[in-house]
Amino acid sequence: MPEPTEVTMSATLAADEALARRRLAGEQVLSMASGEIGLPVLPALRAKLAAAAGLNTYGPVAGSAALRTAAADYWRRRGLSADPGLVVCGPGSKPLLFALLLAVGGDVALPMPSWVSYAAQAGLLGVRPIPVETLPGQGGVPDPDRLREAVTAARAAGRDPRSVVVTLPDNPTGTIARPGTVRRLCEAARELDLVVISDEIYCDLVFDDAQPAVSPAVFAPERTVVTTGLTKNLAVGGWRTGVARLPDSDIGRALHTRLVGVASQIWSSPAAPVQEAAAWAFTEPPEVVEHIRASRRLHEAVARAMAARFAAVGALLTPIRATCYLYPDFEPLREHLEAAHRITSGAELAQHLVEAYGLGLLPASAFGEPGRSLRLRVATSRLYGDTDEQRTAALAATDPVALPWIRASLDRVEEVLADLVASRAPRPEAALHA
Ligand SMILES: Cc1ncc(COP(=O)(O)O)c(C=O)c1O
Repeated sequence: MPEPTEVTMSATLAADEALARRRLAGEQVLSMASGEIGLPVLPALRAKLAAAAGLNTYGPVAGSAALRTAAADYWRRRGLSADPGLVVCGPGSKPLLFALLLAVGGDVALPMPSWVSYAAQAGLLGVRPIPVETLPGQGGVPDPDRLREAVTAARAAGRDPRSVVVTLPDNPTGTIARPGTVRRLCEAARELDLVVISDEIYCDLVFDDAQPAVSPAVFAPERTVVTTGLTKNLAVGGWRTGVARLPDSDIGRALHTRLVGVASQIWSSPAAPVQEAAAWAFTEPPEVVEHIRASRRLHEAVARAMAARFAAVGALLTPIRATCYLYPDFEPLREHLEAAHRITSGAELAQHLVEAYGLGLLPASAFGEPGRSLRLRVATSRLYGDTDEQRTAALAATDPVALPWIRASLDRVEEVLADLVASRAPRPEAALHA
């Protein structure tokens, strides 16, 4: 019998569960491994969900007309025309991305580094991803020249790349590829006849309103699928809701048929009460806009304060422009880390930080980078408080970094990093193996 496909647990969710076990066992942990947004649900949104609890029928596979129309209008306000008939809603953008990879078929080119699930999802489909490096400071979008080379080489080797995934803004780097790079990526995708799958789940979390992320759908409207959801901007990951906008073209219509077919076989329809609430949120009433604005400011303040702690000990950081992530590189500290702690890889560094200090972070290898890389992905979105009261106060604060509970987390990280880089003689062999 053939071996079943290898199935791995999502690195972020696995790290989160491991940290929760440590906390339950009474250890002090600081959870910066997953990008779950630790903020309360906007009360008006919560009321919409509660009021819709009686909705118990499946409804259309692609999602309710109200949600598809609201999502289309949401995209139109961001300069992307959208036909509700080409919008597909699902239980999160993650299953939509998986269904899209399945619907497009063939191999997929991915930015390196990129979000933990793209390569893992490709693996579930029996596809080997084609990793393509990104340009410095412009995570989430493969270098267009390298994409050309990689796809051409893959085809020459008999492989069948049919899509490229981009993340705008980017997880894990917190950066945004420049519009010129996105345009060149689109030109390459057109030349190579690739579908562009643009994951824009962080598009509302760009710090500077004047410099939004520009979607590839602007430059390659005929071949770009855009996905997003409410997990990041409104912190409702557990509600499981996401939307995909398919291109108004032959490519888009063929994909729509296949995507809806996949959806019908896997999740049947998105959760009806959640759709009601999501439809309201996507219309962006003033309280939603204000809530997202406040959360964006909070992410920016805390992520920047955290970045300063890492920079202070000599880690390299690219300026972050969005999300709640930073991606410090400990390469300048390689010699010290090896001499003092016998750390030679990102995984060892992350393991040391969790075991010695209860600090949960993810190594770059989880994002497809070589094991030797000493980069870590730091998510600051769980540091806003332990109670809804604290989190609400964090959202309202003009200087959230001064709040005692946020300050305490920042101080703890500062203390850990100081200890990590403190010059000390290598520990004796006996102590290491004790
Ligand atoms: C880049 C990226 N895409 C998609 C998702 C998943 O979002 P959803 O909750 O909509 O499935 C995440 C969540 O961390 C993410 O970081």
